[in-house]
Amino acid sequence: MALVLVSVASAQDGAAIFKQNCTACHKIGARLVGPDLTGVTGKQSDEWLRKFIRSSQGMVKSGDKDAVAIWEEFNKTTMPDFPFSDADLTALLGYLGSINKQPAAGATAAATAPEPPMVFTAADVEQGRFLFQHRTSGGGPSCVTCHHVNDPGVIPGGLLAKDLTHVGGRIGDQGIAGILGAPPFPAMAAAFNGRAALTDKEVHQLTAFLMHADSNADVQEAGSKRTMLLWGLGGLMAILLVVSLVWNRRLRRSVKHDINARQLRTI
Ligand code: HEC
Ligand code: HEC
Repeated sequence: MALVLVSVASAQDGAAIFKQNCTACHKIGARLVGPDLTGVTGKQSDEWLRKFIRSSQGMVKSGDKDAVAIWEEFNKTTMPDFPFSDADLTALLGYLGSINKQPAAGATAAATAPEPPMVFTAADVEQGRFLFQHRTSGGGPSCVTCHHVNDPGVIPGGLLAKDLTHVGGRIGDQGIAGILGAPPFPAMAAAFNGRAALTDKEVHQLTAFLMHADSNADVQEAGSKRTMLLWGLGGLMAILLVVSLVWNRRLRRSVKHDINARQLRTI
C-alpha cells in the first residue's frame, strides 16, 4: 500500500517536473523545438536517458552516435542541461514511461492535430521590435542586453546569448512562443521569473517580431552586401581618379620639362 502511494506521488512529481522544465520545447505526440518524446523510454536505455537529460551536449561532445544524430536532425539546437537528482530523474522517466503505455486514442489525435497558425499584424511586429529593446512590463531586462538580431530598427545587441536573427526559421513561431512563455535557459529564466514573466501579449508581439526578422534578414543581408559592393566600386573609382590626376600632372610636368629642356638646348 505504502509502496503504491509512493509511486503515485512520484509519477505526479514527474509530470510536474516535465511541465515545468520540458514543455517549452517538447510536446507529447508532436514535434516542437525538440522531438516528440512519445516512446522514448522504449527507444533508449534508462542510463542513456539520464545522461542525456543531465547533459545532452556532454554526450554530443563525447561522440555518442544517437546523441549526435538527434542533435544534427534538430539543426544543432541545444537542449539545456538539467542537473536533476537521481530521484527526480526516476520520477521524470517514470512519467515519460507512463505516457508511452497509455496511447489514449483521443488524446494523441488532439496532440498531433496541427497547431492553428499564429496570426501576426504589422502592429505586432512594430510593438515586438520596440519591446525587444526596452524593459518588459514586468520589469525584466530588454532582450538586446543579451541577444543580437539583424534588423534596421534595432540597435546592435549583446553577445552573451545566441544571435536571434534566424531563430524563427530554426524553431518556428510555436517554438519561440513556447520558450518565451516559460524560458528553459537559466539566464533567461532568472531574468523573466515571477513578476517579471512576459505577458501573453508580449510573447505574441516578440514572436511576431522575431518571425519577421527571420524572413527579412535575407533581403537585408543581400541589401547590405549590395551597399558594400557599391561602396567598393565607388572606392575603386575614387582611387582610379586620384591615380589619373597624379599621373596627368606628372605627365604635364614632364612634357613641360621636355619642352623647357628643348628650349634651353636651342638657346
Ligand atoms: C530549449 C528546448 C528544450 C528543453 C527545455 C528540453 N529539451 Fe529535450 N531536446 C531538445 C532538442 C532540440 C532535442 C534534440 C537533440 C539535441 O538538442 O541534442 C532534445 C532531445 C531530447 C531527448 C532525446 C530524444 C530522442 O529521441 O533521442 C530527450 C529524451 C529529451 N530531449 C528530454 C527532455 C526532458 C526530459 C526535458 C525536461 C527536463 C527536456 N528535454 C527539455 C530541446 C529541449
Ligand atoms: C540575461 C540574458 C538574456 C536575456 C535578457 C534574454 N535572453 Fe534569450 N536567451 C539567453 C540565453 C543564455 C539563451 C540560451 C541560448 C544561448 O546560450 O544563447 C537564450 C535563448 C533564447 C531563445 C532560443 C534561442 C535558440 O536558438 O533556440 C530565444 C528565442 C530567446 N532567448 C529570446 C529572447 C527574447 C525575446 C528576450 C527578451 C524578452 C530574451 N531572449 C532575453 C539569455 C537571455
